[in-house]
Amino acid sequence: MTLESIFSKSRPDVSGSAIFDTDFPTGDDWRNWFEADDIRDEQVGLPEFSEVDVVRHFTNLSQEAHGVDNGPYPLGSCTMKYNPKRNDKLAILDGFAKVHPHQPVDTMSGIWESLLNFQNDIAEVTGMDAVTLQPAAGAHGEFTGLLVIKKYFEQLGQDRKVILIPDTAHGTNPASAAMCGFHCKIIPTNQRGLMDLESFEEHLNDDVAGLMITNPSTLGLFEENIETIAQKIHENGSLLYYDGANLNAIMGLIRPGDMGFDVIHINTHKTLSTPHGGGGPGAGPCGVKAFLEPYLPVPVIREIDGKATPDFDRPDSVGKVKTFFGHIEVLLRAYCYIRANGPDGLKTATENAVLNANYIKHQLSDLLPALFEQNCMHECLLHGGSLEVKGSDFVKRLIDFGVHPPTLVGAGCVHFAKEFDEAMLIEPTETESKASLDFIIEQFRRVASEAKVAPYMIETAPHNALTAKIIHNEAAWMSVYEDDDQP
Ligand SMILES: Cc1ncc(COP(=O)(O)O)c(C=O)c1O
Repeated sequence: MTLESIFSKSRPDVSGSAIFDTDFPTGDDWRNWFEADDIRDEQVGLPEFSEVDVVRHFTNLSQEAHGVDNGPYPLGSCTMKYNPKRNDKLAILDGFAKVHPHQPVDTMSGIWESLLNFQNDIAEVTGMDAVTLQPAAGAHGEFTGLLVIKKYFEQLGQDRKVILIPDTAHGTNPASAAMCGFHCKIIPTNQRGLMDLESFEEHLNDDVAGLMITNPSTLGLFEENIETIAQKIHENGSLLYYDGANLNAIMGLIRPGDMGFDVIHINTHKTLSTPHGGGGPGAGPCGVKAFLEPYLPVPVIREIDGKATPDFDRPDSVGKVKTFFGHIEVLLRAYCYIRANGPDGLKTATENAVLNANYIKHQLSDLLPALFEQNCMHECLLHGGSLEVKGSDFVKRLIDFGVHPPTLVGAGCVHFAKEFDEAMLIEPTETESKASLDFIIEQFRRVASEAKVAPYMIETAPHNALTAKIIHNEAAWMSVYEDDDQP
């Protein structure tokens, strides 16, 4: 199926709605309004359309992709949850949406006050002492936090070059560490899905700047040895970094700062209901304990003379990590979510996220047994090995029945160890109701029944989506290499 582009539907001389601006000069007088260099006389080549045609085109287009606004999206690790429209309404208020980044700083006091409150809220829920809102995504938060760690050791005059990372980590962790000039050493996972403590201790030495760990991990399991791990890292003079992408499983119940973490980032799209920017534009606030505060990037919003103000006077800062002040529109949405829920609401959201994942895990246990026995946190890892069809085909058929596929481990979405191949990482999130969870479970069962009688239907799925099946190898190589060049 192909969808016509707006350009191919264009009809000459059809115009959209007229613009009535009584102040706008007629004739050629408008030329006086602009600099000569800013005026373009040649045709721009925009499609010609009536207003209603434009609305229909984009409305239809928006229906062609599966998103959280039109169906369940239980994508493990990446957390696609409902973004309350209330957040959008707040972020587009004139005082927020119509400011210009070059506007004098003292004309934006409402923004600074909101951001300062938000910084304090993040510090409160994470148990950290200082926060920067600059980073544009989770991975960018990692990069910022690791720069802080690097600077800290530089100031101490210690040449620590290694970051330890469990093999269950998100791929961005080693990438961020490498971008900051660290070497990565990977720690294996034990039989219970936790970080192998023996191997961890073997790797600890004077070269180690820090351990970067996600808790709960991307296996959906809580790292129960975290206090011992924190103690050993600190005894070694190293720092503990928290990849807070999965904070949505513990927010309001426990805090990374209290577990012993020194530096954290959080992903607002995972925990605080903002859109996922695919590496940006999102937001990945980064928090630190007090002794690392001087190294945070410029500016940090602080209260100066009783007024919230961006503070650029930070001589030990790692510098600037983002133009202007970060993705303020995203930050405001996250701030709205925190304020709208309040402490009790955030705690309930966390409890529901964990409950929902365990419900799915339990209800599907006969069909897709869990890889680990213990209760999961916000996501569950289920084994697809006994299905009659390949897991990668199975999950694509779910699209035809209105459920977005979960993250498929073996298909290369998450680079876990080999033994997790054919496993599915499912994260329903707290925003799905019980009825919606039952719908998801029903669709899994429906595809499993179909696999027994008509596997062909599954192998060739999806059938109802705009884009037909994408073959893994072709998808990976087609845009970069000509066929003959494939390695
Ligand atoms: C555990 C973990 N760490 C880091 C990231 C990277 O975050 P982002 O996609 O916002 O850069 C993700 C992605 O959602 C993640 O799941």
